[in-house]
Amino acid sequence: MANNEDAFKKVVSHAKEYGFIFPSSEIYDGLGAVYDYGQLGTELKNNIKNYWWKSMVQYHENIVGIDSAIFMHPKIWKASGHVDAFNDPLIDNKDSKKRYRADVLIEDHIAKIEDKIKKEVEKAHKRFGDAFDRDQFVHTNARVLEHQAKIDEITKRYSQCMNDNDLVGLRQLILDLEIVCPISGTRNWTEVRQFNLMFATQMGSVSEGSDTIYLRPETAQGIFVNFLNVQKSGRMKIPFGIAQIGKAFRNEIVARQFIFRMREFEQMEMQFFVRPGEELKWFEYWKAERLKWHLALGIPADKYRYHDHEKLAHYANAATDIEFEFPFGFKELEGIHSRTDFDLSRHSEFSGKKLQYFDSELGENYTPYVIETSIGVDRTFLAVFSHALKDETLEDGSTRTLLSLPPVLAPYKAAILPLVKKDGLPEKAREIFDQLKHDFMLQYDEKDAIGRRYRRQDAIGTPFCITVDNDTLETNTVTVRERDTMQQERVAIDELDVYLHKRIKPIAIN
Ligand code: GAP
Repeated sequence: MANNEDAFKKVVSHAKEYGFIFPSSEIYDGLGAVYDYGQLGTELKNNIKNYWWKSMVQYHENIVGIDSAIFMHPKIWKASGHVDAFNDPLIDNKDSKKRYRADVLIEDHIAKIEDKIKKEVEKAHKRFGDAFDRDQFVHTNARVLEHQAKIDEITKRYSQCMNDNDLVGLRQLILDLEIVCPISGTRNWTEVRQFNLMFATQMGSVSEGSDTIYLRPETAQGIFVNFLNVQKSGRMKIPFGIAQIGKAFRNEIVARQFIFRMREFEQMEMQFFVRPGEELKWFEYWKAERLKWHLALGIPADKYRYHDHEKLAHYANAATDIEFEFPFGFKELEGIHSRTDFDLSRHSEFSGKKLQYFDSELGENYTPYVIETSIGVDRTFLAVFSHALKDETLEDGSTRTLLSLPPVLAPYKAAILPLVKKDGLPEKAREIFDQLKHDFMLQYDEKDAIGRRYRRQDAIGTPFCITVDNDTLETNTVTVRERDTMQQERVAIDELDVYLHKRIKPIAIN
């Protein structure tokens, strides 16, 4: 791809063209930061959720899954801190009347300096070729060091302001960095104000006596308030986990970057309850385990990195993000947090119900500590999809668009293609389709020349094309073409089931 911006545009247009993702309410000109998943997107999304659910719930005998309601008692959000502290700092430009997140303006400014470093590195790499030592260069080159010093200074001031909730300081930083509004080009900024991200609605009649309730901004609280229900009904013994996949809603002000930051999105969260004092051991365990889950998809390790939080939320005693290199740079994909006993204690306090566990081995009652793993379904979608999409030039000089999705996530596992539309081949192909359809999502296609059909399957990420030709009728074998290598091999029809199962499975995960 020509550059990252082009690559990202291609991701968005490819997702729409092939039925993965459409803008919501498109015929009414769309709705900001809300998207619909199309016929192929829904399959890919379901496969992501299944892959997570299996590895978290099915493969761990001490983790169970729930599905709590989106609407919850309003006091829950008071207890969790969301009513008082789930805010974004906003700033308006008085000339363009546009509203921005103050923190994002500063982060974008930092990203621009990071880009300058990247360009210096690329230039030097070209100059020195294979002899180039990246590490040495970034630690010694004067221009890079100057840029890095600037970044460090801004980050220090910025973190301080965010931690101290210093809105005046944030505004001053924006002024000092001479950040301008991208629309008006001016520095005519308002004060910075806090804006709560929760969507509120009314339950019951809108008149007197009705209650303001919120669309949940995370699924986690549905797990905490069900801690005792699950522990007692499932006779769960600590350590154990409760997992959940579901919708979450946030009134994001900076809504851009496609499905990276949405107002309605889906989370896959797991709260792991442990003995007080053992939480950091389990934090390290889940930190490693979650990265393994990502790597088992076969995406190269250098696309991921940990970002350990230096400044922690008041309730956490350790936190890290797993970041992914999206087309617009490394950004958070998943969060792993050691949340102490904050949530259970607060819900005990606000509900008046004791949320404790009797540990029969220790012979004592305590409020369990919690390690949380929290990942966005949509961000995972964007990560695998953007990494998979490539334009390839083949040996004969022709090009193809390839979506090399991990087979376990691909919408269709195989396409069944009769070589020609006659001689009994379509009938045989339909027979194979019926034999395999109970285990695999398949597509049947008999239109156009075989080469064009292969290209269509390449573009939607189908890992295998099964071609039925004249030999099939005599030998009961088919040609299986593998998407990425385009290599073909002959496989007996009777063995297709086992053949596909073996190749679709991700690299072993625990
Ligand atoms: N319970 C913890 C929690 O919600 P978070 O870091 O705010 O933590 C967890 O969110 C994950 O949810 C993120 O790592 C991201 O993948 C996803 N996520 C958060 N906000 C999102 C948004 N507006 N659009 C899409 N995904 C989002």
